[in-house]
Amino acid sequence: MRKLITSALPYIHGISHLGNIVGSMLPADVYARFCRLRGNEVLFVCGSDSHGTMYEVTAAKMKITPKELAYKNHEKMKEILKKFELNFDYYGITDSDANREMSFHIFNKLDENGYLKEEEVENVYCEKCSRFLPDRWVEGKCPSCGGLTRGDQCDDCGKLIDVKDIVEPYCVLCKSKIIFKKTKHLFLDLPKFDKELSDFVDNKSKKWSKLARTETIGFLKNGLKPRAVTRDATWGFKVPKEGYENKILYVWFDAPIGYLAFTKEWCEKNNQKFEDWWQNEGTELTQFMAKDNTIFHSIIFPSMLIGCKENWKLVDRLMSCGWLKAKGIKFSKSRGNGLTTEEALEKYPADYWRFVLISLYPEQDDSVFSMEAFNETINNEFADIIGNFVHRVLSFCYSNFGEIPEVEKETEAELVEKECSEVRQTITKNFEDCRFHEALKNIVHYAKLSNAYFNNSEPWKKDEEEKKRISYIAGNLVKNLAVMLYPITPKFSEQIFDYLNIKPEDVKWDDANNFNFSGKLKKPEPLIKKIE
Ligand code: MF3
Ligand code: ZN
Repeated sequence: MRKLITSALPYIHGISHLGNIVGSMLPADVYARFCRLRGNEVLFVCGSDSHGTMYEVTAAKMKITPKELAYKNHEKMKEILKKFELNFDYYGITDSDANREMSFHIFNKLDENGYLKEEEVENVYCEKCSRFLPDRWVEGKCPSCGGLTRGDQCDDCGKLIDVKDIVEPYCVLCKSKIIFKKTKHLFLDLPKFDKELSDFVDNKSKKWSKLARTETIGFLKNGLKPRAVTRDATWGFKVPKEGYENKILYVWFDAPIGYLAFTKEWCEKNNQKFEDWWQNEGTELTQFMAKDNTIFHSIIFPSMLIGCKENWKLVDRLMSCGWLKAKGIKFSKSRGNGLTTEEALEKYPADYWRFVLISLYPEQDDSVFSMEAFNETINNEFADIIGNFVHRVLSFCYSNFGEIPEVEKETEAELVEKECSEVRQTITKNFEDCRFHEALKNIVHYAKLSNAYFNNSEPWKKDEEEKKRISYIAGNLVKNLAVMLYPITPKFSEQIFDYLNIKPEDVKWDDANNFNFSGKLKKPEPLIKKIE
């Protein structure tokens, strides 16, 4: 089966924090790697979300253009993601020509089909800066607690704030008083999609994560309202319509269209058919994101696609998760707390982070990251249970035989084989269901069982035949662990494959359940260093 997998597109106006990776890119990557191992035809796309007002602010501070900022950070981001072993088939940027073309196409279709309507609204305007301001560029006193607040949410009391209610509001750029000024915009007429959206959600949401399903159903129940798809700003795609020359498409209009555009760019480079991926029911589309992105993927983007009447593929599995918080706060770019991805990678290798972040994957609730928890997980699980078992077995086999020896297969399978095969079935199911932290827990359990088998068998006390037989089984358990961990900690697994003289590209998911491997070994080294 064809599997199209996407991760929410990261903004790159600031620095990347671990929180951005844990919710979407990492789980998407783990799932893509799992699907590839299973022999599915996989396309995993992502890219930089390069439009939006934040680029204007940051670029102005740096005295460069938003475009320069976006492309500079895009290159940097690509390097960081690579270091994190995020193995995209394609990583694009939403400012691309292909995305402009695709965005205009969808805009025009929606317009032709009567789904865009013009409305006049009153927005915040700064006369000194002579520009309209996004809500969160307005500051003032919180009507609720009196503290300093911005136009979306109060930092002090956490309440959502309508700009109109802010007391003594002023422009964050120049500090002068703001006014409200009339302006016209195009709105996506969401109420017109009510029936189709409800059918789509009824149909598909059984396969969505719980967070995605409940939020979407709640949103539909509240009643749909038109959403503006244009903005008074300069950085973005110009609205391709008469009378709108000075406006741009809202960033959330062209960003998800990036998924289509990136697929197209990839298809052109790889001689593939775009329609196979986006206009074909034989393709399964799985999208990963954090919970604040849900509605865009479950309601707004699907409406945009439905409104084209071109048979675009809609999301089959929508996986939204909670936030990874650092000591009780969300990892955030704008508020500047949390660990940047670069800092994280300077401290420890990618596999360490991937292991811990998957074990913290906030599938249902927010989860909390701390360095103490990091050290504990690495030391107790990755190093003591998994790394240690792998090293002991490989060293034992190497020093005794120079290989994983081959022995006559017994008719009655070993108890440990049976037990492990059962755990392995649960692991497979959890990977299929994108319950990666559960899968990882099961893998740790598998390693514990393997460890117990090796210890209790005491091969070092046994005769040559028995020693061989135990080494053979233990060696296969090591190999199986390496296969199952491959989606989560790819470098660690590749290192083991290398000791076993297995080519990574030959590895299949089903190899995790075979107990018939034997062969020459390279001299093994300890793989996971404990953290002091
Ligand atoms: N950049 C957005 C965020 O970080 C996510 C965009 S996802 C896409 O919240 F669907 F628009 F691509
Ligand atoms: Zn101003």
